[in-house]
Amino acid sequence: MSSTCKIRRKALTGLLSAAKLDALVITHPANWYYLTGFTGEAGVLIVSPGAAALVTDGRFTTQVRKETSSVRLIEQKGSLLDSTGRFLRQKGIRRAGFDPAQTSVAQLSLLRKAAGARTKWIAAPGLVGTLRARKEPSELARMRQAAILAGDVLTSAINLLKPGVMENEVAAEIEYQMRRGGASGPAFETIVAFGDRSALPHARPTAKRLRKNELVVLDLGAILAHYCSDITRTVYVGRAPARVKEWYRAVLEAQTAAIAAVKAGVSCGDVDAAARQVLAGYKLDRLFTHSTGHGLGLEVHEDPRVARGQKARLEPGWVITIEPGVYMAGVGGIRIEDDVAVHAGNTEVLTRIPRDLIEL
Ligand code: GLY
Ligand code: MN
Repeated sequence: MSSTCKIRRKALTGLLSAAKLDALVITHPANWYYLTGFTGEAGVLIVSPGAAALVTDGRFTTQVRKETSSVRLIEQKGSLLDSTGRFLRQKGIRRAGFDPAQTSVAQLSLLRKAAGARTKWIAAPGLVGTLRARKEPSELARMRQAAILAGDVLTSAINLLKPGVMENEVAAEIEYQMRRGGASGPAFETIVAFGDRSALPHARPTAKRLRKNELVVLDLGAILAHYCSDITRTVYVGRAPARVKEWYRAVLEAQTAAIAAVKAGVSCGDVDAAARQVLAGYKLDRLFTHSTGHGLGLEVHEDPRVARGQKARLEPGWVITIEPGVYMAGVGGIRIEDDVAVHAGNTEVLTRIPRDLIEL
């Protein structure tokens, strides 16, 4: 990990030079993990050409020494941002970059004050995100395992779908099975939605009990060796009526078309359009109320966005979800989601379980 992190910091240094920054001030835990291996939740990482320093407090100093190499540890005195600002002042940093999506207005104002008037603060969005989007082979290997675990857990959760079971019970079992399978936890709050609640794309599990003739949406992801997976399947409890079968066919066709569109060089907007176009053919596009997918990696939602009009072009090493859905308020919803890696010559679906409609 330490040599990998050094290579990543070197790549970041190249981006800093291009942006004429003396240093990047990183306040986002996933980014400092990516660049140093530090897993603590409090700190600030400062990367400048040829050097990296982590400011953190006494709870994490042992952890920094254990988890990082060639990273200077600055034990904070007073507040974290005061210490960070003082360090930048001592180092004579004139042009400090920050990511405006990750550093709050309040944090920036404290940093500005502590660093003093000689330091200029420059918004530098997405520099680490750009590097993180392109997964290395070792990251892809972890993501494959995380995706397989999510598929296994989802498959075993389907066996729990008996009339009378509560959404909460199924969600609890899913998260228990993830940890049993080696995950450090769920990648996001597990979605288990029965009946008309499945029309809420991000339903939170409740005490609702399953009844016959209901749709069930299960959307879950595991964090395994720091990397996330994200998978959704929709099940019908009973014999699905013709209209549910048709909606399911439409969503599956939309997902298949979007996955087929995934290729290095294709824009994320075009992948999104491939799904939307199929649903339009079924007159269901109005009911597809979210984007087609998102980048996946150390976090469940990261660069790129696979949404309408997104110009970013897919590159080898990127991993995205493809998750079209249709949602009929008061009736129910259908979503099918898989994780897809882009390679130079092909596309790899990391989540491996079947996608056909399951009727229980
Ligand atoms: N699977 C949850 C989400 O993508 O937001
Ligand atoms: Mn997702």
